[in-house]
Amino acid sequence: MSLANAPTGKPATPPFPDWALGVQTRVEAALLRYLPSGDAIPGRLHQAMRYASLNGGKRVRPLLAFAAGELTAAPPERVEIVAGAVELIHGYSLVHDDLPCMDDDVLRRGRPTCHVEYDEATALLVGDSLQSLAFELLASQDFGDAARQVEMLRLLARASGSRGMAGGQSIDLESVGKHLEQPELELMHALKTGALIHAAVLLGALCGGALSTAEREALDRFARRAGLLFQVVDDILDCTASTITLGKTAGKDAATEKPTYVSLMSLERAREFAADLKNQALAALAIFGERRQRLCELTEFIAQRQF
Ligand code: IPE
Ligand code: IPE
Ligand code: MG
Ligand code: MG
Ligand code: MG
Repeated sequence: MSLANAPTGKPATPPFPDWALGVQTRVEAALLRYLPSGDAIPGRLHQAMRYASLNGGKRVRPLLAFAAGELTAAPPERVEIVAGAVELIHGYSLVHDDLPCMDDDVLRRGRPTCHVEYDEATALLVGDSLQSLAFELLASQDFGDAARQVEMLRLLARASGSRGMAGGQSIDLESVGKHLEQPELELMHALKTGALIHAAVLLGALCGGALSTAEREALDRFARRAGLLFQVVDDILDCTASTITLGKTAGKDAATEKPTYVSLMSLERAREFAADLKNQALAALAIFGERRQRLCELTEFIAQRQF
């Protein structure tokens, strides 16, 4: 037997793509269970909720929740619930983001957007209903620690509302055609995208054992850097990737005069900025030793992604 294959007493760790596929498959199956059946009245609304939530998306926020759960040895059946709740909120944010009164997009995840496939009023109600379902899901499960569960609900609510995702979307719409300085742009991105990513990371970790104050601060810093990184890469891809690769309309930000990191600092400097953010995110994880492996791999994936 070669040394490389010698038993170490530790279970083998699957390569990142296998691990990620396992999480994505698990989350898809969980969402299938969480979402009301398309046969349940009102059928059209439930079918549209399923259309917007199933069979698509990279599931980055669930992946982050599972990877953060590895820091605290969180039981996967708990992480699955918080991952599902965050993904439902994310799905709602995309349905509303695409509406004619917001980004007015016709393509999402390679398919017609929810309001194109159904209609605007249904898409509005899909967003409302996915958001409510997320909180119902998180509140209905027994996490064995009521105080911690309330903290989790508060965290997700804060990340979704006017001081989180919805607030960032408001700044985004107000900023069309305007020049934002870097701190303003950072705030917009930290809210519209960063807040939910931050919540996914913390919620995943909160499913397991307690973190020390230093660990919690490190995780907080990681989540903020990773959230900003995610949207900077989204800005870069909007102007470098094709509509086919993205599964959503490419070149939209420039065409609609949205301030982005690319418009602020040029493509080349936006790429350098993304590389800095990635390194800062990775550095923040040092305190976790070997437990940080999945979060590190995921950070690389977020930085390298092509769609
Ligand atoms: C797109 O998010 C919207 C942003 C917050 C930038 P994702 O790139 O995670 O979209 P899906 O879920 O994979 O489709
Ligand atoms: C969307 O940002 C952020 C949220 C949905 C909250 P974008 O408008 O840049 O996302 P895409 O590019 O349409 O996916
Ligand atoms: Mg938008
Ligand atoms: Mg958009
Ligand atoms: Mg975008």
